[in-house]
Order: sequence, then structure tokens, then C-alpha cells
Amino acid sequence: MVEWDGTVVLTTPRLRLRTFRPDDLPLYAELNADPEVVRFLGGALSRHESDAIAEHAQGLHATEGIGLLAVERAEDGVFVGMCGLHHVTDWYPDIEVAWRLARSHWGHGYATEAAAAWLRHGFTTLDLPRVISIADREPPNVRSIAVMRRLGMVHDHDADLVDENGEPFAAVVHSITAAQWRSGPGRTAARPR
Ligand SMILES: CC(C)(COP(=O)(O)OP(=O)(O)OC[C@H]1O[C@@H](n2cnc3c(N)ncnc32)[C@H](O)[C@@H]1OP(=O)(O)O)[C@@H](O)C(=O)NCCC(=O)NCCS
Repeated sequence: MVEWDGTVVLTTPRLRLRTFRPDDLPLYAELNADPEVVRFLGGALSRHESDAIAEHAQGLHATEGIGLLAVERAEDGVFVGMCGLHHVTDWYPDIEVAWRLARSHWGHGYATEAAAAWLRHGFTTLDLPRVISIADREPPNVRSIAVMRRLGMVHDHDADLVDENGEPFAAVVHSITAAQWRSGPGRTAARPR
């Protein structure tokens, strides 16, 4: 049974990383329908599709304590978007760190801050050996690749993948190992409060 109670999983200086609540869903659907947000994500989602990915995230949190969960700004409780860890088993055995924020919340460092906390969780609590992140390569998802670099992730390889709609896309995969994380900038990027 999936709970929609906004359980806080991690905190950062400015953010709460938590499970979704019912009142997040219209806002999540809004960002998932914004053409600029979904430019590299296979196009706009319907409300039903947006709710379904939130539900999938809740399920992954319930079973494994990870998932592409909600990001909330701590000072005023505003829903900012999504960030977290999940499986990309169609492509790789590794866990991926991923992010998607409402357009109005770009340019504040929130994605890097949230993802840094998820990496810390992955490499400490979950003892993961390695985390990857996948982005469009042609044309490049410049903002997303910049987040990866700020986290201390390094270019792993280029790949030609096929998305869940059967569409081929040119991808670039970045990665970070536990050892790289321990000695890199990401470790101190967003310590929990
Ligand atoms: C990818 C995405 C999450 C990146 O968001 P972002 O806001 O650019 O990334 P960050 O949170 O790391 O913020 C960095 C920016 O905030 C600025 N910033 C402002 N205040 C800051 C602060 N206090 N701390 C850190 N950075 C700050 C940085 O200077 C940087 O600005 P710049 O882009 O002008 O260089 C966002 O563009 C998005 O949601 N895209 C659509 C979904 C998507 O493509 N997801 C990825 C699929 S692979």
C-alpha cells in the first residue's frame, strides 16, 4: 500500500526531500506538461502519466527507500520538483540519480543541492558502489550535464539508447564511484543539517 504522506527522507540546508503528497500532484503535472521542462524527456505528460510516475516513485520508496521523489523548499514549503535515485534496468545495472524541476526554480542550485544529498545517501546509507546519470547528447541537455559536473560526476561513455516510447536517442552517461565521491567536491556540496 503506497502512502502519500510526504515522509521526509533527507534534508539539506534549503530543501526537504520527501515522498509525494496528494497536493503535489497537480503541480508535478504542471511541470511535466511544460514543454521547456520536458524538452529532453520525450515530450509532455498527461495528468494521468504524471500521477503514474509519482506513484511509481512512492512504490520504490516503500520497497527500497529510494525513488524519484518530491523536492520541497524548506523556508516556505513550496513544491520545487523531483530528484532522487532509481533503477534504469532497461539500460544499465547501475542506480541513476535524476532531477526535474519546475522552470521557475531553475538557477538557484536546488537540483545540485538535492542530488548531492541523494548521492551522499547512496554512498553512505545504501553503500552503492557507483551511481550514473544519463542525459541527451545531441543536442546536449546542457543544464543537466552541468549538474552532473557540479556533483563531481565524470564522463563515462556515449551511448545510443532507445527510450520507453521506442524512440532512439543519443545519450551521454556520467558516473561517480564511491571512491571518487569520497575524494570529490560532491561530498561537501550539501551536507544534511
Ligand atoms: C536539469 C535542471 C534540473 C537543472 O537545473 P538548474 O537550476 O540549472 O541546476 P542547479 O540547481 O544546479 O542550479 C545551478 C544554477 O543555479 C545558480 N545558483 C544560484 N544560486 C545558487 C546557490 N545558492 N547555490 C548554487 N547555485 C546557485 C548557479 O549559478 C547555476 O546558474 P547557471 O545555470 O546560470 O550557471 C533543470 O534545468 C531541469 O529541470 N530541466 C528539465 C528536466 C531535465 O532535463 N532533467 C534532466 C534529464 S537528463
